[in-house]
This record gives sequence, structure tokens and C-alpha cells, in this order.
Amino acid sequence: MVDDIMELFEAIKGRRSIRKFKEETPDEELIEKIVEAGIWAPSAGDLQSWNAVIVKDHQIKIQIAIAAYVQEFITKAPVIIVVCANQANAGARYGERGRELYCIQDAACAAQNMILSAYALGLGAAWIGAFKEDDIAELLDLPDYLRPVALIPLGYPDEEPEAPPRRSVKEVIYNEKY
Ligand SMILES: Cc1cc2nc3c(=O)[nH]c(=O)nc-3n(C[C@H](O)[C@H](O)[C@H](O)COP(=O)(O)O)c2cc1C
Repeated sequence: MVDDIMELFEAIKGRRSIRKFKEETPDEELIEKIVEAGIWAPSAGDLQSWNAVIVKDHQIKIQIAIAAYVQEFITKAPVIIVVCANQANAGARYGERGRELYCIQDAACAAQNMILSAYALGLGAAWIGAFKEDDIAELLDLPDYLRPVALIPLGYPDEEPEAPPRRSVKEVIYNEKY
């Protein structure tokens, strides 16, 4: 158990955002394993109010990169996973809080699980949050209840970035009251 905990912390600290990929496309099996890790994330009421659109088509990747304010490296990723919050699903049970918050949190938890498990499987990924939602929605034929939350370019890493600095625990914590 202690060893398992050490491995988890290694993964949490060793994972980096990867923005340079080798050409090889990861097998379908690996991609499904990564999405499965997302499914095992916590979610409000276990509703798992999110969906994933997997993009491999080069022309669509170019359009996605344009919608992401021309972050060109996205076009070089063999796969892009577009994680979308399902507002209808969470909204049906939880009303406005479900539509505006829980499904976004569900999608974010799932995306983080996917990025972390990609690293554990020897792949690289990044979280891309800067994009025009309407453009992504139109490109991917998303219904109006699916809100794109994160673009995750995915592939075999072709770089080993240094870890950027983190805040100290002391800086983050307030005891009892803020
Ligand atoms: C909500 C969110 C939005 C982000 N948007 C972008 C983005 O648009 N483009 C990008 O290259 N990286 C983006 N990132 C990745 C961050 O830049 C990165 O996680 C941060 O610099 C820490 O580096 P690390 O992931 O290697 O630890 C985003 C991350 C998050 C969580």
C-alpha cells in the first residue's frame, strides 16, 4: 500500500503538460483506457455528466487549433480528446447548480484523471482551456447542452519539460478561517 501511495505521488508530481508529440498514434485500447480512468472520477450523484469527443482528423484538428487562438501545437497531437460537460444530465437532477457547476466539476475531475492516467501509460497530454466555445461546439456538432470544458491533445511525448514552480503548502492553507 505504501508503495502504491508513493507511485501515485510520483505520478501527480511527475506529470507535465506536453505540447510536443511524436507522430505515432496511440492504440485505440490505450485511448479507451484513458477515457475509462475519466469514468472512474468522482461525479455529482455518480451521474458522470460529461462526454468525450475523440478527434483524429487532421483538418478538424487544424480548425480546433484555430478556435484555440492558434495554439499550433494542437495540430501535431495524434489525438485530441474534447471533454464536454453534459448540462442536461446534471440539470435534470440538480437544476441550476447541476447545469452551471456540477457538470463542469464532473468534466474537470474526469479530465484530470485522463491526463494523469495518460502519463502513467507513457503518453503525454495537456489541458487546453483557452478556446472559443461556440466555435468548438459548431465544429463538433455539439448539442446546446454539451459545453466543451477542456481540449486534451494526446500522444507520445517528444519533450521533457522542467516542472514549473508551485506554491508552498503554507501559502495555500488558512487555519480555521480565511
Ligand atoms: C484550466 C486550465 C487551462 C489551461 N489552458 C491552457 C492553454 O490554453 N494552453 C496551454 O498550452 N496550456 C494550458 N493549460 C496548462 C497549464 O499551462 C499548465 O498546467 C501549467 O502551466 C502547469 O504546468 P504543468 O501542467 O506541466 O504542471 C491549462 C491548464 C488548466 C488547468
